[in-house]
Amino acid sequence: MPRHRIAATLLVAVITVFLCFRTPDWPSAFNKPAREILNSTLGFQHIFAINLPARTDRRDALALAAALTGLDITWTSGVAGQDVHDRVLPGDPSVSRQLSFGKRGSWRAHMNVLQRIVDENITSALIIEDDADWDVRLKSQMQVFSQAAKAFTQPSNGQTVAEKHSDPPGQELPLNQLPPHMRKPRLTPYGDNWDVLWLGHCGTSFPDPSTGNIVPSFRVTIRDDETVPYSKHLQPHPFALEDALSEAYPPHTRVVHASSGSICTQAYAVSQQGARKLLWQFGIQSLTTQWDLMLRDWCDGLYDDLSPDSDTPHIEQYSNQLRGPVCITTQPPLFSHHYGKGAASDITAPGGGYVSKNKEMTPYIRLSVRLNMERLVKGQEPTEQWKDDEPQLNE
Ligand SMILES: *[C@@H]1O[C@H](CO)[C@@H](O)[C@H](O)[C@H]1NC(C)=O
Ligand SMILES: *[C@@H]1O[C@H](CO)[C@@H](O)[C@H](O)[C@H]1NC(C)=O
Repeated sequence: MPRHRIAATLLVAVITVFLCFRTPDWPSAFNKPAREILNSTLGFQHIFAINLPARTDRRDALALAAALTGLDITWTSGVAGQDVHDRVLPGDPSVSRQLSFGKRGSWRAHMNVLQRIVDENITSALIIEDDADWDVRLKSQMQVFSQAAKAFTQPSNGQTVAEKHSDPPGQELPLNQLPPHMRKPRLTPYGDNWDVLWLGHCGTSFPDPSTGNIVPSFRVTIRDDETVPYSKHLQPHPFALEDALSEAYPPHTRVVHASSGSICTQAYAVSQQGARKLLWQFGIQSLTTQWDLMLRDWCDGLYDDLSPDSDTPHIEQYSNQLRGPVCITTQPPLFSHHYGKGAASDITAPGGGYVSKNKEMTPYIRLSVRLNMERLVKGQEPTEQWKDDEPQLNE
């Protein structure tokens, strides 16, 4: 090989190595979907599932659902409320000791997972309840979600896209119009600065700054998402009103925004920083009601005093550290409560109303893993649960 060829090859090699090592610091040219999210823990370090050992039925079903969609579950034991003694409850005893056994057990089970995440210095983890369901296309949904979430979680030049667009309030951008200059995250493929990704809920609201809500009102919209059910099917259970999402947006639109008034914890991810803050607040400091309602209020910023007249100096200068919880959610949710057959009696749906024991269903999830378990086990294609309606003639 002539000498100048060798020199040129070496130069290319050096530049390539340089570029590879420099990439993490460079603004990514495009907001590309992260490949790590396709792995068996969805780009988190772990997926924890909370399961009471006595509920072998739920464990069988969740283990199979996870296997059929290429997910790797780390089991963590649910806690019976009778085993949670008065003396371990944090906060005002006259409040915490009033909690029912059900609420105590659920609180403790969630605290145990947070404690483990903190103890083992886990960078990020998804926590799911053992009756959660999801779409067979979850991994690609999570990739799209992460692209939108980074507008809230990934600062570039000290500010996130959501913060840049927070004045005046009420702005939104379609996913494909997010500025392409966001820095590549170092800690998690969902961004570097977040506490909670509230992925499975049974209701959330668009943040409304006029009510004094401190979370950013910015929204990212994803149009023509075929995994989003048709508008009339957007409701947490059959007798609920349709979600605000169905009135505000054309069919098949997904919206990613800061969590506001979210309830039910079918699935949520926490970062290490989020786990530490939550364990401090609810393992050590206070316990007032059931877990999802405390998490709702925490994400809404009700545990923070960020008002300008609090005695923190230079609030603008330090706004990065003081900006309050970063909890991001999506409508419709990516995980949802599965209503199975065979319950001894009708079950009360979260948020009120009854679901028939004869009809299996999962709100919001079109190609449900649970409802397609038999087909998937037999190697057949999954079928649709929430079909689009035929357009009416006189509409
Ligand atoms: C999936 O990706 C995340 C982020 O890179 C990583 O922390 C995790 O260990 C990966 N999971 C597996 C099972 O390799
Ligand atoms: C925890 O992990 C982070 C990286 O994710 C590392 O920087 C830190 O040193 C670790 N802390 C401990 C106590 O190991």
